[in-house]
Amino acid sequence: MTLLGTTGTTLQNPSVDTIEIRGGRPLRGQVDVRGAKNLATKAMVASLLGSTPSTLRDVPSIRDVEVVRSLLEVHGVSVTDGEEEASLVLDPAGAESAGFEEIDAHSGSSRIPILFCGPLLHLLGQAFIPDLGGCRIGDRPIDFHLDALRNFGAVVDKQPNGIRLSAPDGLHGASIELPYPSVGATEQVLLTAVRAKGVTELRGAAIEPEIMDLIGVLQKMGAIISYEPNRVIFIEGVEELTGYDHRSLFDRNEAVSWACAALVTDGEIFVKGARQYELLTFLNVFRKVGGDFDITDDGITFRRGENPLKAVMVETDVHPGFMTDWQQPLIVALTQAEGTSVVHETVYENRFGFTDALVRMGADIVVHKDGIDAAERRVARRPLEQAAVISGPTPLKGIDMVVPDLRGGYSHVIAALAAQGTSRVTGIKLISRGYEKFLDKLTALGADFDVVG
Ligand code: EPU
Repeated sequence: MTLLGTTGTTLQNPSVDTIEIRGGRPLRGQVDVRGAKNLATKAMVASLLGSTPSTLRDVPSIRDVEVVRSLLEVHGVSVTDGEEEASLVLDPAGAESAGFEEIDAHSGSSRIPILFCGPLLHLLGQAFIPDLGGCRIGDRPIDFHLDALRNFGAVVDKQPNGIRLSAPDGLHGASIELPYPSVGATEQVLLTAVRAKGVTELRGAAIEPEIMDLIGVLQKMGAIISYEPNRVIFIEGVEELTGYDHRSLFDRNEAVSWACAALVTDGEIFVKGARQYELLTFLNVFRKVGGDFDITDDGITFRRGENPLKAVMVETDVHPGFMTDWQQPLIVALTQAEGTSVVHETVYENRFGFTDALVRMGADIVVHKDGIDAAERRVARRPLEQAAVISGPTPLKGIDMVVPDLRGGYSHVIAALAAQGTSRVTGIKLISRGYEKFLDKLTALGADFDVVG
């Protein structure tokens, strides 16, 4: 059952939370990926910085977009559907302060509210940010964000339910070095520096394609941003920015998720909208595991190669490394590979919780909570690091599972699709935070499941 979503596309029935999956059927067909969750939501926040309306195209119809839309609306931004399908027009002309309770009520389980700080400080001189949600995959502190904001001249007042920020003397350019190339903190600096007085030099920046796309959005608005090798970004603050017209970068995480679904279920999926350049690192690993792909101008087709799947060693890293959001669906495929694979998670300290369910399904996965030493490491071992050792191939059997987080939940579903027997997966709503029309896409690919709750 589908409903009409706010971007003109269909939004999966939000009440569906439990499905029963009969596994063993390969997924075959086409899925279209829209704009990236991790770009579209940030570009929506950027609209607050413009003096005229912005148009964002290829906006995915997902829960996180709904959350940012409501947050913009409580701050007086008018958000309407654009002429093109899946586009939004964001007009900040009526922007105003909002009350703490109102902001809190609309923040959902998202981490995006923290990125409202800079734009709201420029626009209104103050910002209230509630305690943040997001997937429970580690501590997820915001110290880099707050330190950066203080560098710009913001005063941070921690309160019981969140933080209150003000900028009595305005925001000025700053010299900032991030202790780690955090995606969110880099975006925080960009969204604050573009209208700060003077030049900002950011060292240790994240350079994910979604960040480069956000830089593109800001440049369209009138910002002056340049970058050098070695993660250095310079931003020259300007007095005024105007609205933008932008088509979002495709969702790399969704493309990778469907690629792994094809590998796990021994199917074949054409991911329309996926592009090679932003997926170079993933495609190398996909090939090493035994996957096969064809690249065209319109997208990428993913399938298994002719030989059995092979074990690999992978470490997650910031771009251009193997993204932390890709290890979960890959691990499901590795349960079907011959030999022992090792996945080192170096970005978050608690991102292997989803493997418990895979073990109950019959997978042989041992998580080393303090990491393990391994030869040929590209990055030095980080204190947060964990490692998963996966031995295969092991048959998977259907079980009852509860979705732990966005990427882990998706991985549970594709494991259930590959397993023998029936699985009941509860918590599907969490997956709709980041996967547009998830159940519709599964149906189109021939998945055998029923909605049961
Ligand atoms: N960190 C700090 N202090 C901070 C900020 C981050 O210690 O102030 C640490 C984090 O705890 C983590 C590391 O730095 O260990 C990296 O975190 P980062 O800030 O890069 O992540 P994020 O901006 O919160 C975004 C995506 C995540 C994605 C990561 C890494 C959004 C909304 N979220 O999170 O996406 O995994 O970058 O690429 O853009 C997802 O889509 O499922 C998801 C979790």
